[in-house]
Amino acid sequence: MHDPDTGFLADLVLAGGTVVTGTTRFQADVATKDGLVALVGAPGTMPAARETVDVTGQFLLPGAIDVHVHFREPGYTHKEDWRTGSAAAAMGGTTTVFEMPNTHPPTRSLAELRAKQAAAAKSHVDYGLYGLLAEDNLDELPGLIAGGVNAFKCFMGNTFGNLPSPSTGAMLEAFEIIAPSGLRISLHAETASIMAWRQARLVAAGRNDPLAHVAARPAIVAVEAVSRAAVLAEWTGARIHVLHISSAAELRPLAESKARGVEITGETCPCYLLLDTGDYARLGSVIRVNPPVRDAADAAAIRAALMSGVIDMIATDHAPHTPEEKRKDVIWEADCGFPGVETQMPLMLNEVAQGRMSLEHYVRISAENPAQAFGLWPAKGRIEAGAEADIAVVDMERRETIRAERLHSRGKITPFEGVEVTGVPVHTLVRGRFVQRDRRLVAETSGWGRQVTAIQRMPPARVRNADRTLAACLQAPAREEA
Ligand code: DOR
Ligand code: ZN
Repeated sequence: MHDPDTGFLADLVLAGGTVVTGTTRFQADVATKDGLVALVGAPGTMPAARETVDVTGQFLLPGAIDVHVHFREPGYTHKEDWRTGSAAAAMGGTTTVFEMPNTHPPTRSLAELRAKQAAAAKSHVDYGLYGLLAEDNLDELPGLIAGGVNAFKCFMGNTFGNLPSPSTGAMLEAFEIIAPSGLRISLHAETASIMAWRQARLVAAGRNDPLAHVAARPAIVAVEAVSRAAVLAEWTGARIHVLHISSAAELRPLAESKARGVEITGETCPCYLLLDTGDYARLGSVIRVNPPVRDAADAAAIRAALMSGVIDMIATDHAPHTPEEKRKDVIWEADCGFPGVETQMPLMLNEVAQGRMSLEHYVRISAENPAQAFGLWPAKGRIEAGAEADIAVVDMERRETIRAERLHSRGKITPFEGVEVTGVPVHTLVRGRFVQRDRRLVAETSGWGRQVTAIQRMPPARVRNADRTLAACLQAPAREEA
């Protein structure tokens, strides 16, 4: 039935809930139309709608934006594919993911970006796609930018996929090429040469236990890599993002470069907040992840930085592997990482339920800040008229126990097995459509997700030292002898 006065018919009204922003919460009904939030207003004031859903007592959060997932397609689809990975996101209240390029083949050229886009077409949720920044694809970077890549990923340290880390010289040239685009470069900030050296020494000494993995990657690898990347960003004006912050020590170069005005953001993941070296004996090789889970003092410092804003956001590094690939007696043989995109929101809402974080702060770190850092704001990351209707409806009373076998990922193994959480997303909407409803995947929404267009919403880049780039030097006429 149309509104008799205006003729306006909303697609959906979510009635009776509490809308949460990064700074406040208020009781409001929300109407959507054509994928957008049409109205947010006092309870009972909404126009007529095709469907009204009662969400009394529940909270409406902007869907989580997870800028760090590995969906493995093409190449490793026995671990995950775009359908299963994005189903896990939908079940976890995550409405946008940014997907990493360490697939097989990696996303390092325009043709490979097109292949990734074809695979991603079955996604349940919206997505950004990372292009690889490596030593051997510098010539491909302009094509990736023109072809619509959403961000870049640079592996300063080796991890799954064993992509070689670029030299500092190659990184500088890549930063020079990418800086004018304004696209953010996300860094796996661990220094490869330190880790290779130490791992070889540990292996030679016969160390095969889980904690040997931590010994091979002490926090100095993160300190060195974050510092070096920040200096390159400062010189070129490139925007950077520090992935999976794992140590107290790397917070200093992060905070200092922020204070100097470097365009740098940082994320951490639930495992670095909620686990520590005391968990290695219990979890064995399941906990192996790059960078490693560190000491309780690191977790405490990371938590403080996430509360103060030094760390901008929560992501997951969703890195699915099969249980067989994870469970190994020799730590070096276990694949690194575990699924996370389905458990992030419940684990973090549980932190809220335990009084360790406000729901408002959670909205900042899960939605507002990633939207702003990766060019999606103001279309995403907020529930306001005109924004895309990406909404996680959350029941803060509901309790669930995390079980790997129930995850929608193909990686049916998690270090959070058996953890009981309070606070669960009970519906997930992507651009106004339920992709999860009442804790069930809406299977037919595979293919509803679409690629975000970050480049159009990034503020203009502030390029520095443009006259000194390698490209500029190569173009300048040879200096004449006097
Ligand atoms: O543990 C990890 N696994 N860390 C990464 O950075 C990559 C990831 C993967 O792709 O498996
Ligand atoms: Zn990762």
